[in-house]
Order: sequence, then C-alpha cells, then structure tokens
Amino acid sequence: MRSLVVAIDGPSGSGKSSTSRGVAARLGLRYLDTGAMFRAVTWWMLDHGVDVTDPAAIAARAAEPVIESGTDPLDPTILLDGEDASVAIRSDAVNASVSPVSAVPAVRTRLLELQREIIGEGGIVVEGRDIGSVVAPDAPVKLFLTADPEARAVRRAAEAGGDVAATQESLLARDEIDSGRTTAPLTMADGAVHIDTTPYTLDEVISQVVALVEAVTAASSVGSQARE
Ligand code: DC
Repeated sequence: MRSLVVAIDGPSGSGKSSTSRGVAARLGLRYLDTGAMFRAVTWWMLDHGVDVTDPAAIAARAAEPVIESGTDPLDPTILLDGEDASVAIRSDAVNASVSPVSAVPAVRTRLLELQREIIGEGGIVVEGRDIGSVVAPDAPVKLFLTADPEARAVRRAAEAGGDVAATQESLLARDEIDSGRTTAPLTMADGAVHIDTTPYTLDEVISQVVALVEAVTAASSVGSQARE
C-alpha cells in the first residue's frame, strides 16, 4: 500500500472528489486533488489581471503562481503564494475560466511536474482528468467515474449551492472543453475500470473502489511471492 498510486479520473460531479478522499482515508493513503491546482492557477491569472481568453498571455505567466497542495484526505488544503485559496478557487469566476486555462499546454506542463513531485514514491489517491492517461500511466489501480448529467448537477448544486439547471449547463460546457482539448484531454485510460456512480451512494462507491484496490494489491503480493 505504501507505494501504491490510485488514479481516479472523470468529469465534474461524477463523485471523484468525495470518493477519492473516502478511499484515501479508509486505506491510510495521501490524497491529491489536481483540479484544485488548475483552479488555483486560474484564480491567480484572474487576480493578476491576465486575459484568460488569451492562451499566449496565460502561457507567459504560467511559471509564476506558487502552489502548495496539502495531501491529508481529511483536510486537503491549497495555498497560492502562501495564502489559503480554498474558497476563491470554487468561485463562479473560476468555474467559468478553469477549462480554457487548463487547456493551455504551458499550464499543464508546469502542473504535471508539481503533480509528479507530490506523487513521489506513491501511497496516494490522485484525482483529475488525465491521471491514468498522462500523470501516472503506470498506476496499478485506475478508475474512471461517470454519472448521468442530471445526477452530477444535483450533487454539485447541493455541495456548492445554486440552481440545478445552471449548474448542469456549466458542467456540460466544461466537459466539452475538457474532453475536446488537444493536450491531455479527459479520457478513460487504458486499463481503467469504469464505474457509473448514478445508482450508488457515496459509501457504496467507496466500498467498491476499496475492494478493487485490495484485490489488486493482494494479487500483486501473491505474484511477487510466487516470483521470490
Ligand atoms: O475536478 P474539478 O472540477 O475541480 O476540475 C476543474 C477543472 O480543472 C476541470 O474543468 C478541468 C481541469 N482539470 C484538468 O484539466 N486536468 C486535471 N487533471 C484536473 C482538472
């Protein structure tokens, strides 16, 4: 378990964050929310007056934001230039601009480096859009979570407040950009297990993923004993 990487990808509202945190907490692993890192870069660009519709302007300043991600699943934190950014990164302004900012290759290269540094020797559940395909393609456990758009919008609106129809429209607009971009699009990685979370409670999904992780780690320890 100590070197394990669990990669969990999927669109917004598919249950990724709550599932990833729950799985990490149950298994005593660290947790990394890569979406929060893209949100932090987006907030930094907005806060520094960078034109977020101009990929060249974003790329020119992509190296500047200093991002520190805490990896405790019970208290995940995000610091931007040393200040707590956990509220600002969930604002409507960030929701509206995070997908185009995330599509800029210089932003992805910068964050990929940081993400790999944090993943380090493993022992971590990492959630995002390209974790199984790009960030940690060798992860022994890869999940791709989805849910019906309506269920996703209901969940997100319940978490963040707001109107379900408007939330659904914003989710679908982000999905389209996240899936259609050229660099590291949202995709189901080779070898990923797909779970449609629509009919399940959070606890049920966490249990399914924990069971899968335990099966994979048990099989690999049997395999390594057999090779000894
Ligand atoms: O998971 P989230 O909704 O907080 O992610 C916000 C945005 O960040 C999402 O719309 C696309 C981007 N993102 C990404 O491009 N790659 C990742 N690994 C994680 C998030």
